Amino acid sequence: MSQSPLLFSPLKIRGVTLPNRVVLSPLCMYSAESGVATDWQFAHLSTFARGNVGLVFAEATAVEPRGRITPRCLGIWTDEQAEALKPTTRFIESMGSVPGLQIAHAGRKASASPPWDGGKPLPLGDTTWGDPSWQVVGPSAVPLNDGWQTPDALSEAEIADLVTAFADAARRAVVAGFKVLEIHGAHGYLIHSFLSPLSNQRNDGYGGDRAGRMRFALEVTEAVRAAWPEDLPLFFRISAVDGKGWEMEDSVVLSRELKARGVDVVDCSAGGITGAPAFRAKDDGSPAASGDRPPGFQVPYAEQVREEADMKTMAIGRIIEAQQAEDILQEGRADLIGIGRELMYDPFWALRAAETLDPDNAQAGWPDQYRWAIVRRADLGLGNNVDRRAP
Ligand SMILES: Cc1cc2nc3c(=O)[nH]c(=O)nc-3n(C[C@H](O)[C@H](O)[C@H](O)COP(=O)(O)O)c2cc1C
Repeated sequence: MSQSPLLFSPLKIRGVTLPNRVVLSPLCMYSAESGVATDWQFAHLSTFARGNVGLVFAEATAVEPRGRITPRCLGIWTDEQAEALKPTTRFIESMGSVPGLQIAHAGRKASASPPWDGGKPLPLGDTTWGDPSWQVVGPSAVPLNDGWQTPDALSEAEIADLVTAFADAARRAVVAGFKVLEIHGAHGYLIHSFLSPLSNQRNDGYGGDRAGRMRFALEVTEAVRAAWPEDLPLFFRISAVDGKGWEMEDSVVLSRELKARGVDVVDCSAGGITGAPAFRAKDDGSPAASGDRPPGFQVPYAEQVREEADMKTMAIGRIIEAQQAEDILQEGRADLIGIGRELMYDPFWALRAAETLDPDNAQAGWPDQYRWAIVRRADLGLGNNVDRRAP
């Protein structure tokens, strides 16, 4: 290929230059202790920086204790929690990658067990996973599903406190060394549950019509933008459609409002409001089974937001092949490529994608500590695209 691939071209957003367009999508690890990062977070996130991922997002990180999905989820409501993340951000930057943090509140989906234990709601006060499980909160007293807690409906004063908690988390993220921040507004967690008419049945200024339901999201964004340095990028993750009353038209309107408040990138996911993972609804409205989700199934959302809200987007969801990622960028459907499971499966995905898309520079992205040996390995005929994955 004569032209260098877009996937490996830098992208400058505000004062930050991402070295390439490959992004580790936030991935909950359920491995923190009382919200404090452990060795796992360092080992996990540093791997992707060694693998030349341009932007490495740490997982959904709670802005207050009740905002954790499980008692083992990461938090950033104390200075100690911010401090514990410093070695990770420092290492990611030393590799030439950019460290990002997703700040979140799990709302009515909080206080559950990790997925390997079924991701089920915990009885109040259960200590199986460390800190005792807690009473969940939400916009209205509407539980997620059968067997889940009925959330306490937040008062206006409590909503104001949560807006402040998001802003405080942004300030601590600066101290921790992050250079990109993402507000988690997707997957049925607190912000999405305010957006959705299914979970938000309030009749005050935070509910009712779309403008009322968007108010919490926009107040959080304004507070975070004011607390987060002007020269650093701010992302916002949406569930572009949730199959239960939030549709693309709503996402385009929300994205325009986010842009007006200084959001730089809308990260386009989907689903989660009823507890099911991200999905694309079938024509009859029922959730498509996992196997029915084709590669790139959420890319049309990133494309539409990019075009109609005139802003940068990140595409996510079953982006698997290097050429698939490159085509999304070349066709102008998104500005960044988020990858989750494929990077868990192959943390050096970006290095292997470079072998496919840019064989003349295939070794450029390797860390110095490895590159000399990888070059020698290539000299032995063990060069590009030896498919270790083939059975
Ligand atoms: C183990 C795991 C943990 C996840 N944790 C988060 C999270 O913390 N925040 C979030 O917004 N999405 C989370 N997701 C969703 C991913 O970021 C991503 O959007 C989804 O996996 C689809 O992308 P993929 O097909 O490349 O995996 C998680 C997904 C997985 C598999």
